[in-house]
Amino acid sequence: MKDHLLSAADLSRDDAILVLDTSAEMAQLTEGRSVKKLPTLRGRAVVNLFFEDSTRTRTSFELAAKRLSADVVNFSAKGSSVSKGESLKDTALTLEAMGADCVVVRHWASGAPHRLAYSGWIRSSVVNAGDGTHEHPTQAILDAYTLRKHLGSVDGRRITIVGDVLHSRVARSNVLLLATLGAEVTLVAPPTLLPVGVEHWPCQTSYDLDSVLVKADAVMMLRVQRERMNAAFFPSAREYSRRYGLDARRFALLPDDAVVLHPGPMNRGMEITAEVADSDRSVIVEQVTNGVYVRMAVLYLLLAGGRE
Ligand code: NCD
Repeated sequence: MKDHLLSAADLSRDDAILVLDTSAEMAQLTEGRSVKKLPTLRGRAVVNLFFEDSTRTRTSFELAAKRLSADVVNFSAKGSSVSKGESLKDTALTLEAMGADCVVVRHWASGAPHRLAYSGWIRSSVVNAGDGTHEHPTQAILDAYTLRKHLGSVDGRRITIVGDVLHSRVARSNVLLLATLGAEVTLVAPPTLLPVGVEHWPCQTSYDLDSVLVKADAVMMLRVQRERMNAAFFPSAREYSRRYGLDARRFALLPDDAVVLHPGPMNRGMEITAEVADSDRSVIVEQVTNGVYVRMAVLYLLLAGGRE
């Protein structure tokens, strides 16, 4: 792997398989153990630099780093000097001066992690934990890990991603990684929620959810990101749910062994009904568990693997 993980496109097929295999090893080393800690990153410092809200991603990076015995500092923009107007550069220089080995960054601006990684402000590894509407590579890895566990392999599988693709960094990273791993990805969304240039992405697109679901090995529902919407992208929430929501009727169209994913946080009743979200073919809670193993693997490969 390279020094940073900024985009799912940074991962070759071999890299992706290495991260997935390493994640499985992390799971094996910690699952069912009373002491879940490994000494691997003792003495290393991981900084979680979050300029945007997060529940799952921040806590799972924190837990992952702690399970590898690294020191962890959680830095959120609220409650720091960023709210006093400090720039990304000055924040970065401060972290560098404190000796951070890895900076995990979430930022509302697309491209902020790249700036951090290649500006020369810091020497540490940078992991993108979600930048604007751009990418969220560790989410894509944990999704691929979860799919691999349930489907055996991602190669040749039909994966459907549904909803607010326009504002979703999860969708972009997933399309890139799943294509690298040989999956056939179809995006389903209203035309207003597909980004310009989507025809150049390594996937297909459709506006007809029912016809895609009958052939899907897995379906990933995306959150409707109202906080990033400054205009009307669909007539009403009801209309959106009717055409693009996953309810019991649509769920019944899926092949029997297909699984349902959602990166969270969910708008229950909007893109997915509670009944489907809580069904036994929903792997949404398991995605969160797997997120810890995947982030352990990423931190390990960046900070210990190959450098020692
Ligand atoms: C996603 C994110 O923040 O991009 N959540 C996550 O990291 N699990 C998806 C979302 O906010 O809808």
